[in-house]
Amino acid sequence: MRHLITGGAGFIGSHLAEMLIAAGDEVHVIDDLSTGRLDNLASVRSEAGFSLDIESLAAGPTLEARVEWADIVHHLAAVVGVRRILQRPLETLQTNIHGTEYVLDAASRHGTRVMIASTSEVYGKSPELPFEEDGDLTIGPTSKCRWGYAASKIMDEFLALSTFEEKRLPVTVARLFNTVGPRQVAHYGMVLPTFVKQALAGDPIPVHGSGEQTRCFSSVHDVIRCWDAIARSSRTVGQVYNIGSDDEISITNLAILVREVCNSGSAIERIPYEVAYPTGFEDMPRRVPSLSKLEAEIGFRPLTSAREIVELVVEYERDAEFVPG
Ligand SMILES: NC(=O)c1ccc[n+]([C@@H]2O[C@H](COP(=O)([O-])OP(=O)(O)OC[C@H]3O[C@@H](n4cnc5c(N)ncnc54)[C@H](O)[C@@H]3O)[C@@H](O)[C@H]2O)c1
Repeated sequence: MRHLITGGAGFIGSHLAEMLIAAGDEVHVIDDLSTGRLDNLASVRSEAGFSLDIESLAAGPTLEARVEWADIVHHLAAVVGVRRILQRPLETLQTNIHGTEYVLDAASRHGTRVMIASTSEVYGKSPELPFEEDGDLTIGPTSKCRWGYAASKIMDEFLALSTFEEKRLPVTVARLFNTVGPRQVAHYGMVLPTFVKQALAGDPIPVHGSGEQTRCFSSVHDVIRCWDAIARSSRTVGQVYNIGSDDEISITNLAILVREVCNSGSAIERIPYEVAYPTGFEDMPRRVPSLSKLEAEIGFRPLTSAREIVELVVEYERDAEFVPG
């Protein structure tokens, strides 16, 4: 099979590229390296079935030709990460909405199957836990630019589902919950790599807010396995799926677990949201997916425990710290 991965030099996209190349498929990546890195693709760059365009996603001959070549497009390119979104609200909206529009337009001309990466952020402040795919989406006001990311992904979902309805394009939307693992970078406000780096350095681990807010972290390896199963199934066309884990952990307990796995003496430092973030930030106390649809239709259960995920990230960060002289 021929796969086009937009954002394929990023954290999730590079793991997906690796898995598909290992399965004997062909992969082409389009990535502007705004947050992605060529290093992420080190293990596949010299493979015969792999190719890459380093450029921004734009409507034009490159995208058109790559989409025509592909059997499936995995659309992962986006502006991601709370900190980056707050710093670049306009770029977030433009990249996330127009990028998806370009991909869907090109795919419509060639009848190419598309997977769209959405996010648990679309559920916003919904109190209806666990979040079901057909549940209401309750995001905050437009004056708080944090919600621009959720709004852009909601618009992506509407674009995808409308293109399916009107043009019968085979599209599926995957709402990814907190995905973690090796290669995720700390710079854009990602919690686990930040905690691990601080713990390994013996520096304070910064917990924002009360620390009682909970999240469900899933391993990138589980996520791409599930993503691939959805992508290869025809019954998932025109559907929306949650992908993630339903194993809930508070941010304080995550910090304690990281400290334990790192065998670190780091203090846990509580930082009020007003200090941690510029204005425009709001957090939600819990975020738990319902995995019923995924289990019933794909037979998916996450395999990796929170401790195993932390161990993998710690191992990766320890290796990354070691630079041979
Ligand atoms: N990591 C998570 O926990 C998570 C959760 C929910 C949803 N997602 C979604 O999964 C996708 C991948 O996220 P990730 O965590 O791997 O982030 P990432 O930042 O590592 O990957 C995004 C990639 O897109 C590329 N990119 C950005 N703008 C581009 C443009 N205009 N043209 C070409 N390439 C561009 C970046 O360089 C990067 O390689 C995103 O769509 C994100 O919204 C991720």
